[in-house]
Parts: sequence; structure tokens; C-alpha cells
Amino acid sequence: MTSRLQTRAAPMALVLFLCLASAAQAHAPDKPPAERVAPGPTGDAVHGGQLYQGCMGCHSLDENDVGPKHRGVVGRPAASVPGYAYSKALKASGITWTPAMLDKWLTNPQVLVPGAKMYFSIAKPQDRADIIAYLAKQK
Ligand code: HEC
Repeated sequence: MTSRLQTRAAPMALVLFLCLASAAQAHAPDKPPAERVAPGPTGDAVHGGQLYQGCMGCHSLDENDVGPKHRGVVGRPAASVPGYAYSKALKASGITWTPAMLDKWLTNPQVLVPGAKMYFSIAKPQDRADIIAYLAKQK
């Protein structure tokens, strides 16, 4: 009698063990970091909007100020806002404001375009990506 019970209990115990094991796995930290994080910084437009406050000493989205207005800047040629007095250097640059170019510009405008008249930079790659993500939404 006992031996029959044992033979029936053994597979039950195995099934229970497997259930617990797979449940435990489902709660384990999901994936190795390489699979969780996309390569290169991905921009957070909301944080970028907060950081954009720092640009607003000289820029706005819709009015030319110390610097040119920004709405629609991602994807357009440099120095193309009508009515803004750009430096000769930026006018002659031939740059188009792709996200990659904006990243270089915000890293150091004077290195990308020597003689440009913006003297402001953003040191952290993630912050630059966030600002660019924000600008990309201002169409
Ligand atoms: C201290 C003033 C100042 C600040 C702060 C500033 N800029 Fe500028 N920015 C300028 C000026 C001046 C120009 C025009 C450069 C030229 O003509 O050479 C410019 C030009 C630009 C351009 C080129 C636009 C075009 O139409 O070609 C971009 C893009 C830009 N700024 C982005 C930014 C961003 C983003 C920030 C904030 C992270 C920022 N700037 C902060 C002064 C500033």
C-alpha cells in the first residue's frame, strides 16, 4: 500500500518541483544587461524639455533671439532661419542638422564650426541625446 502511494507521489512531486522551478525563473532578473539596453544613448524627450530651459537664455522655439528659433531644426540645413543674422562660419558650413550633427554641435560648437557664434555646450552624452529627442518633437 505504502509503496503504491509512493510511486504515485513521486511524479506529483516532480511536477510540483518543475512548476516551482519555472515560477522562480519567471521572477529571476529578466535578461542579461546586453539584451535590455539598446546600443547608444536613447533620448528622453521629457528630460530633454527640462534641459532645454538652459538653451532658453538665447533660444526659443518660435522667436529669433540671441540665437535662431528652433522649431523644426532637426533635419533642416544649418543657418536657414529667415531673418536671423548667422555667423559667416555657420552659413558656409554646409551642415544639415541630423541628430548626429546636433550631437557634435552640442558637444562643442567651436570644434564643429570654427568661428560660429554659439558658446555653449552640453558635456553629458545622455543629456545631449535627451535634448535632441526633445527638439525632434518640435515640428
Ligand atoms: C549663450 C547663448 C546660447 C545658448 C545658451 C545656446 N545657444 Fe544655440 N546658438 C546661439 C547662437 C548665437 C547661435 C548662432 C550661431 C551662428 O550663427 O554661428 C546658435 C545656434 C544654434 C543652432 C543652429 C541653428 C540653425 O538654425 O542653424 C542650434 C541647433 C543651437 N544653437 C542649439 C542650441 C541648444 C540645443 C542649446 C541648449 C542646449 C543652445 N543652442 C544654447 C547661442 C546660444
